[in-house]
Amino acid sequence: MKIYKIVFSPTGGTDKAASAVAYALGAEAETVDLSVQNFTGCNLTDDGIAVIAMPSFGGRAPKTAIDRLKKIKANGAKAVVIAVYGNREQEDTLIEISDAAEECGFEVIAGITAVAEHSIAHIYAAGRPDDTDAKQLAGFAEKIKEKIKASVSDMPKIPGNRPYKKSGSGLVPKTASACTNCGICADKCPVGAIDKSNPKKTDGKLCINCMRCVAVCPQNARKVSGVMVKLVSVALKNSCKDRKDNRLFI
Ligand SMILES: Cc1cc2nc3c(=O)[nH]c(=O)nc-3n(C[C@H](O)[C@H](O)[C@H](O)COP(=O)(O)O)c2cc1C
Repeated sequence: MKIYKIVFSPTGGTDKAASAVAYALGAEAETVDLSVQNFTGCNLTDDGIAVIAMPSFGGRAPKTAIDRLKKIKANGAKAVVIAVYGNREQEDTLIEISDAAEECGFEVIAGITAVAEHSIAHIYAAGRPDDTDAKQLAGFAEKIKEKIKASVSDMPKIPGNRPYKKSGSGLVPKTASACTNCGICADKCPVGAIDKSNPKKTDGKLCINCMRCVAVCPQNARKVSGVMVKLVSVALKNSCKDRKDNRLFI
C-alpha cells in the first residue's frame, strides 16, 4: 500500500497533523508539496492512499491549494481528507477539500478535522498538534485501516455547506528593517507575491495571507501589524477559548 501525503502547509501545522495520520497508516509516505510555486501536478497509482491536508483560512480551503490539488490525477486512489484549523472553526474547509479530491478522481474514504496552532493569533492552540493530538490522530488512522481492510465503501458524511461560505481578505505581512535581502521569503512564498530582486516589496493582490514568509524569515523581519494581531486575538477570544478536539468522519 503506497501512502502519499499531499499537503499545503505554509507554517507547518497542517503538515504535522497530516504526518501523524500518514505515519500511523503504516508506511513511509511520499510527500507532494502543494506550496511550491511551480507545482505541475502528478499521477498516482490506484492502489495508493493519499492523505490530503490543507489549513482553514476564513472557513475555506486556500484557493491556491485547491487549484493545485486539481492538477493531480488520482486514478481511483483512496483519500483521507484533513482540514486543519486554529481552534476557531473549519466551517466549509473539509467539504471543499473533499469535493476537489473527488473531482481529481479520488475515492474519499474518511475526513478529519484537526487543530493546530493559529498561525496569526498564536495564543490559540499554541503548541498543537501536541502529544494528545498525535495519539488521537493515530487512533483515527487505525479506524481508517480497519475500514480499508473490511473493504467498506460507505461515503463518509463530511461536515460543511454548499455553496461554500464567501472567502474574506486578510493581513499582508510587511518587511522590517532587520531584513537582509536573503530572499528566502521570496523563494518560499507559495504564490510568488514577494519580489525576488527586492524582497521588501510584496504584491498585496497576489498575497494569500498564509504567513509562510513570517514563519521562514531567519531575521524575524517579516511581520503583520502587532495591533492587528491583538485585534484579531480579541475578536477570536470567545470562539477559541476552549480546547477543541480533532474529529473523524468515516
Ligand atoms: C489567513 C488565515 C485565516 C485563518 N482562518 C482561520 C479560521 O477561519 N478558523 C480557524 O480556526 N483558524 C484559522 N486560521 C488558522 C489556521 O487555520 C491554522 O493556524 C493552520 O494550522 C495553519 O496551517 P499551517 O500551520 O500549515 O500554515 C487562519 C490562518 C490564516 C493565516
